[in-house]
Amino acid sequence: MKNFLETQDLCKTYKKQKANDHINLRVRQNTIYGLLGPNGAGKSTLLKMVTGMTTPTSGKILFQGREMERKDLAYMGALIESAPIYENLTARENLKVRALLCGVPEKRIDEVLSIVNLKNTGGKRAGKFSMGMKQRLGIAMALLNHPRLLILDEPTNGLDPIGINDFRDLVKRFSNQGITVIISSHILSEIEQIADDIGIIVNGKLKYQEQLSETEELESLFMDIVRKEGSPNA
Ligand SMILES: Nc1ncnc2c1ncn2[C@@H]1O[C@H](COP(=O)(O)OP(=O)(O)OP(=O)(O)O)[C@@H](O)[C@H]1O
Ligand SMILES: [Mg+2]
Repeated sequence: MKNFLETQDLCKTYKKQKANDHINLRVRQNTIYGLLGPNGAGKSTLLKMVTGMTTPTSGKILFQGREMERKDLAYMGALIESAPIYENLTARENLKVRALLCGVPEKRIDEVLSIVNLKNTGGKRAGKFSMGMKQRLGIAMALLNHPRLLILDEPTNGLDPIGINDFRDLVKRFSNQGITVIISSHILSEIEQIADDIGIIVNGKLKYQEQLSETEELESLFMDIVRKEGSPNA
């Protein structure tokens, strides 16, 4: 089977710093790919290249088997670092701005609001939302255009245990609905529970990429790989 998303020797160098060093990512269709790595390892850099937010120094990104083009971004949804929210607007108004930009019909707004369970926030401005509500609004924004590939960079930052649990169910449902998901996290247990495949980045290099086995203990695997590579470049 062709990979849904693939990178070939993808590199990003900031001045002299190799934030991504020959990354060969393999993401299978309709799976959840968990991207792990210590602070400063290069996870956000990789996800930013995939979503067109920053350009690679060298290497290729293949989407559905051919080199990615600008128009492919229409099939992607992303929440990278924190959600691009207008604090003085409500959840619905924030989504309306985005829907206009993406040419998405307004009725989709209600759908995404109910997917992320933010239908009852009424006139409350997003600046007054809790961290978890902001993250959920960010996910709603990422879902507006019916993405085939959803990229979530540490989406559970700031969520409480209930929020994390709900989020996990949400992401699992996405992959059952024909959405391929790449999710980065520091929380190993979270990835262990939802990911089909995992990749571990250390110092800009993809040191491990495998299907997650039920018998493998992710925490000890992660520690082994990170320790072997030495201290991260953060
Ligand atoms: N715009 C930038 N300019 C210069 N250096 C950068 C820039 N963005 C990232 N870096 C550097 O690239 C390296 C990788 O950063 P990146 O944000 O991709 O790591 P990360 O794995 O997402 O870390 P975290 O887990 O803390 O989010 C870091 O050393 C960082 O300082
Ligand atoms: Mg990051």
